[in-house]
Amino acid sequence: MPAVSFQQVSKTYPTPRGDLHALQSVSFDIEEGEFFGLLGPNGAGKTTLISVLAGLARASSGRVLVHGSDVQSDYATARRRLGVVPQELVFDPFFNVREALRIQSGYFGMQRNDAWIDELLDGLGLADKATANMRQLSGGMKRRVLIAQALVHKPSVIVLDEPTAGVDVELRQTLWQFVSDLNKSRGSTVLLTTHYLEEAEALCGRIAMLKQGRVVALESTSALLARAASNVLRFKTDAALPIDLAVQARITGRVVQLPANDALAVERILARLREVGVSPEDIEIRKADLEDVFLDLTGTGGRPGPVPLPGETPPDAGAADTVTGVGARNA
Ligand SMILES: Nc1ncnc2c1ncn2[C@@H]1O[C@H](COP(=O)(O)OP(=O)(O)OP(=O)(O)O)[C@@H](O)[C@H]1O
Ligand SMILES: [Mg+2]
Repeated sequence: MPAVSFQQVSKTYPTPRGDLHALQSVSFDIEEGEFFGLLGPNGAGKTTLISVLAGLARASSGRVLVHGSDVQSDYATARRRLGVVPQELVFDPFFNVREALRIQSGYFGMQRNDAWIDELLDGLGLADKATANMRQLSGGMKRRVLIAQALVHKPSVIVLDEPTAGVDVELRQTLWQFVSDLNKSRGSTVLLTTHYLEEAEALCGRIAMLKQGRVVALESTSALLARAASNVLRFKTDAALPIDLAVQARITGRVVQLPANDALAVERILARLREVGVSPEDIEIRKADLEDVFLDLTGTGGRPGPVPLPGETPPDAGAADTVTGVGARNA
């Protein structure tokens, strides 16, 4: 039996401008013990899907099962098996850290839970903050408490909605160590959303990508990576790229990245640059990564063709056949 089963889940929000289809017939299973990544650009529907899973939002149609229990009709059983770390920082300002964790334990009927609470505090680097009031914590520390709260009832499925957004390197490391241990030693199932694609690449065995409420990819991380161009040519330039290169390029400021599978492709690109008088600096070739696949599949700054800068004549108006680096793709 899968740990989580999304079955034809749709969610529509009525808005003044018409219905917004936040989720459109999303179906996939997460097996027990998987470390599963849910990726997608802003507004793709990740948090909505997690809210439906956590019973915080009701699906317009379809259903979600946690270890076979329906999150609507069997809410209490399903919820008990889930530990959800929400994207938004929400906390009760009146308690200290240990009190907050004890109260959360109480919600799940766990009375003597201090040994596990201590383990959580240690593991998440909160031991010296146990008696601090929630109001006295920094943003990153509050996020640690949210994570501890989600785990306090020892859920078998851990759901993390962008747990590392805006947290420092140390907490990211601590958190991943801790969650990986739970996944490996206890066999906890993990569902993670993150915008740090190197994080997903390192941690997740399988990944679903959402775009505008639909699943656009559902594969093992290695299969996804195998889809990408195997190599990427990266260089810096201030000059305008010719359009034939610009449409394939990922451009961030001065940094240009182009798919280049083999030596011939590299030669062609360099020759084309020489032809138009662009001299690339700091040339390197790197292996394609999850970000390359993500941009291809989700089309976020994908390959829409050159985007004219304000005040520029659009290239298809025939006036320009080059496009400047900034703004062309994924700036
Ligand atoms: N309560 C709501 N009412 C109306 N629309 C909503 C509501 N909640 C979310 N939406 C819309 O549903 C879509 C999906 O939002 P969601 O928060 O699930 O995206 P997300 O993938 O989590 O994005 P992010 O990466 O920014 O967190 C968006 O277009 C959003 O504006
Ligand atoms: Mg979200």
